[in-house]
Amino acid sequence: MLLLLRSAAVAGLALAASASAQLAAFDTALIGTWSTKSNKTITGPGFYDPVNERLIEPSHTGFSYSFTGDGFYEEACYRAIANPITPSCPSGIMQWQHGTYQKFVNGSLLLTPFAVDGRQLLSTSCNYKDSIYTRYNQSELMKSYEVLTDPYHNIPRLNLYQFDGKPLAPMYLVYSPPEMLPTSTLNPTQTAGATATGKPSGKFRRGLGEEIALPLNHKLLSKRKETINADRWWWIGAGMTGLGGVLYFCF
Ligand SMILES: *[C@@H]1O[C@H](CO)[C@@H](O)[C@H](O)[C@H]1NC(C)=O
Ligand SMILES: *[C@@H]1O[C@H](CO)[C@@H](O)[C@H](O)[C@H]1NC(C)=O
Ligand SMILES: *[C@@H]1O[C@H](CO)[C@@H](O)[C@H](O)[C@H]1NC(C)=O
Repeated sequence: MLLLLRSAAVAGLALAASASAQLAAFDTALIGTWSTKSNKTITGPGFYDPVNERLIEPSHTGFSYSFTGDGFYEEACYRAIANPITPSCPSGIMQWQHGTYQKFVNGSLLLTPFAVDGRQLLSTSCNYKDSIYTRYNQSELMKSYEVLTDPYHNIPRLNLYQFDGKPLAPMYLVYSPPEMLPTSTLNPTQTAGATATGKPSGKFRRGLGEEIALPLNHKLLSKRKETINADRWWWIGAGMTGLGGVLYFCF
């Protein structure tokens, strides 16, 4: 029954969208959980615990996407941002989103998050008390993608090309079927008024595939101990991004 309802919702969504753009059938080759080389940042309950409202810091930077065969996706990202003033003290950023995706006949993918569910955790200095926990809502257009067998590792590999054609670091298949949190809105009762959103700005989108080498066991974010509430903390984040005039992107 639930499954039926879900696919009906997806069909409705696809129908509504096909009025404006040509949609293609979902590609079974995309199905699964994909992760960058370090294979430590992986979508699912190991990255985000929605019940306790907690992002769980992986042991290595990287990012991960999961796709289902019926139009749902999830993404997880953890990266370091170099600190030119204090190089020994990089900032860390974690982002998590999930939602629906569409494939167009021209090969592009449009990823549309459930706006109230996305989360971002940003540490701006070595003072972990300064970590900023906010909602995150960023739709993404992947201009194209390709799934191939990696010639070195002999496992399926996914290359995603961003809206501007620039490639993301390659990802390798970790799980199929994918490992994901429930593909429904996790926070349906919360008002969706306040979210960090924005257009790709160029700033902070640098360094594709560039990963800052972190010392072993280095933790950028998780020294933060207090429990956090996205609704409460959003306002601080809104002020920060407003002041800086930029949003932080993982990619
Ligand atoms: C493919 O079509 C979508 C929807 O019309 C559009 O947003 C996207 O830019 C197109 N991609 C390319 C590579 O032209
Ligand atoms: C990645 O990690 C997962 C679980 O930690 C493991 O099952 C999988 O085999 C790993 N994949 C690769 C390509 O190392
Ligand atoms: C989420 O972002 C989209 C555009 O990327 C925007 O249209 C929508 O209003 C945003 N939702 C919320 C709740 O901020």
